Amino acid sequence: MANDLKMKVANAVFETLNPNDIIGIGAGSTVKCLVDLMIEKQFSAKGLVVACPDLSQQFMDAGFEVIPANSVRHIDVYVDGADQIIESRCCLKGGGGRQTMEKLLANMAKSFIVMVDESKWSNRLGKNIPVSIEVLPEARSFVARQCVLLGGQPVYRQGYKTMHNNDIIDVYDLPLAEPLALEDKLNGIIGIVGHGLFAYCRPNEVFISMGNGIRRLN
Ligand code: 5RP
Repeated sequence: MANDLKMKVANAVFETLNPNDIIGIGAGSTVKCLVDLMIEKQFSAKGLVVACPDLSQQFMDAGFEVIPANSVRHIDVYVDGADQIIESRCCLKGGGGRQTMEKLLANMAKSFIVMVDESKWSNRLGKNIPVSIEVLPEARSFVARQCVLLGGQPVYRQGYKTMHNNDIIDVYDLPLAEPLALEDKLNGIIGIVGHGLFAYCRPNEVFISMGNGIRRLN
């Protein structure tokens, strides 16, 4: 069922893509549905920038050209999934550990689209979902202690390394009632490379796959 909803939302977003655009692609299983579609339909964009090495490889194996982020001035539309999203369009990402690259591409984009199935929709940010934080390996304990001071409960994602060879701490119960204030605090902690709270950089548009159709929120 969840897969069906992911396919449906990927289809809805696919219909909005413009071949004249430089398109940014995020990470995760919902985004993979979109990548499968783009390959199946041989969708040729002006340029493709991809956050996730696996999906980048999938495109290249299918004969698509993928441009490094450093080679473009901007991205026209960046499409990604999310782990949790609320009405204000603030969201949590990084379940797949790609949040730093995802946030870079989202910031480079003129338009940022998030697509999710209804299981990601919530009335409260942080309900059972952590803020995933990429840290320099040497800063793991320091950052964890800073997060405890903020009221969070850090859990080290053991045995996992990010694409930049850093560590991930998943922090539960951080005070997310004021997401911008929390983002300011996290942005000020030395040793954090990137985190999955997208409050300043929130999507311009959200596509939500519900049992009874697609809801668009902007
Ligand atoms: C990866 C992400 C993903 O977008 C997020 O985890 C959602 O993944 P999925 O579509 O598999 O549920 O932020 O870092």
